[in-house]
Amino acid sequence: MYLLGVDIGTSGVKALLMDESGAVVASAGESYPLYTPQPLWAEQEPDDWWRATCTAIRRLLADSGVAAVQVRGVGLSGQMHGSVFLDERGESIRPALLWCDQRTADECAWMTERVGEQVVLQTTLNPVLTGFQAGKILWLRRHEPTNYARVRQVLLPKDFIRYRLTGESATEVSDASGTALFDVPRRDWAYAMMDTLELPREWFPKVYESPEITGRITAQAAQATGLAEGTPVVGGAGDQAAGAVGVGVVQAGRASVSIGTSGVVFAHLEQPQVDSQYRTHTFCHAAPGAWHVMGVMLMAGGALQWYRETFAPDVAFDALVGEAESVPAGAEGLLFAPYLSGERTPYPDPQARGAFVGLTLAHTRAHCTRAVLEGVACGLRDSLEILRGMGVPLQELRLTGGGAKSPLWRRILASVFGQTVHTLQAEEGPAYGVALLAGVGVGVWDSVPEACAATVQLAGTTAPDSEAQRVYDALYPRYRQLYPALKQFWG
Ligand code: XUL
Repeated sequence: MYLLGVDIGTSGVKALLMDESGAVVASAGESYPLYTPQPLWAEQEPDDWWRATCTAIRRLLADSGVAAVQVRGVGLSGQMHGSVFLDERGESIRPALLWCDQRTADECAWMTERVGEQVVLQTTLNPVLTGFQAGKILWLRRHEPTNYARVRQVLLPKDFIRYRLTGESATEVSDASGTALFDVPRRDWAYAMMDTLELPREWFPKVYESPEITGRITAQAAQATGLAEGTPVVGGAGDQAAGAVGVGVVQAGRASVSIGTSGVVFAHLEQPQVDSQYRTHTFCHAAPGAWHVMGVMLMAGGALQWYRETFAPDVAFDALVGEAESVPAGAEGLLFAPYLSGERTPYPDPQARGAFVGLTLAHTRAHCTRAVLEGVACGLRDSLEILRGMGVPLQELRLTGGGAKSPLWRRILASVFGQTVHTLQAEEGPAYGVALLAGVGVGVWDSVPEACAATVQLAGTTAPDSEAQRVYDALYPRYRQLYPALKQFWG
């Protein structure tokens, strides 16, 4: 018996097969292009996602030798917030606008004004951000009225794949939370807001909890993917909630810190709770009856990647980071502001820019590398401090993503946070989390926490170094001054 997890990411799709013990027996990936027809725009073709999904699943089944009938359930994850516009035949009208598309500032301001800021905040628990789906629909109405007139459904990226797989228009609470049209405390669409904005209620899919079965593979989809007709497909989750399930962040007191291109601090909540300044996102979690809060910094691993590509393209990551071992904590006064692509948490500012501050002739490449690692750690501490300030219990921090693989970065993170961090035996990202949700949906496990307890294992711990922690506690307030001090140079 196997479970299939599929993640519709921004650079490509990843599909994996898990057995009943939670072991990954095979995985396959397939990439697709991202289009930037104008600065600040980011689009993809939904049909590219579908073709890549079919190819990846076919290859996965062929390579693993697993028979389609042995796949008991399918879970879907994906990039959040995007808008897929479908016509009356269920065909995509134009390329989807993605989570990282920044064109909708005017529409978001208009929507906030029209609905009323307090209603927006109380209902969706978040401000209307440019990345979120609602602004994209309003943009279409204003800028492409002919396309808008053809719209009959608006789906999130992974839910478009569900529609192709099962013929059902459905979503689930974690991804729907990122539309800005969702009543996050009540876990249902904010229909009154749709009415105020004159957006037809029937355009939005039926909402499920993440482990619930939302439909079954159709005969047509079976032909396209090689899966068996009738295989159940569960709700799944947006990529962040799915990733959190995949590393066991499904109970109070647990949080994850993930360093991929972006950096995310994600904590489980038993009840919806918000930052008083709405610098973090509060969304429904993929575990029924739970919520989560997360801070998103846009460039974490991405900052180190940029740094290496720009200044040391011929040096391997490990060697480059290894050089920084010899530099004392605090990089002898050198600070790095990691805002290379604007920022989200704690500064929702697309104009923010990065900087090295405090350079002297005594600083070497090793100092600069260390400053990048420390700057990113301070940026993540910003999110952690917001969560601490909200009183969110954070006893156990689970470190994930590419950045978790560097022992030096782990030590820096633990010392900057002033808290032990844990690593995991194996991590496969969001596709793993939704394969677990599929297992819950088809009865392999009774609940999401039970699925995680049966499969997710910790590997090691890194405790803060008391001397380094002392240095970082003095450095962090200086880091905090970078953004307000540098702001005058942007814009
Ligand atoms: C979450 C977010 C990203 C996207 C793309 O708020 O914007 O995680 O889902 O990965």
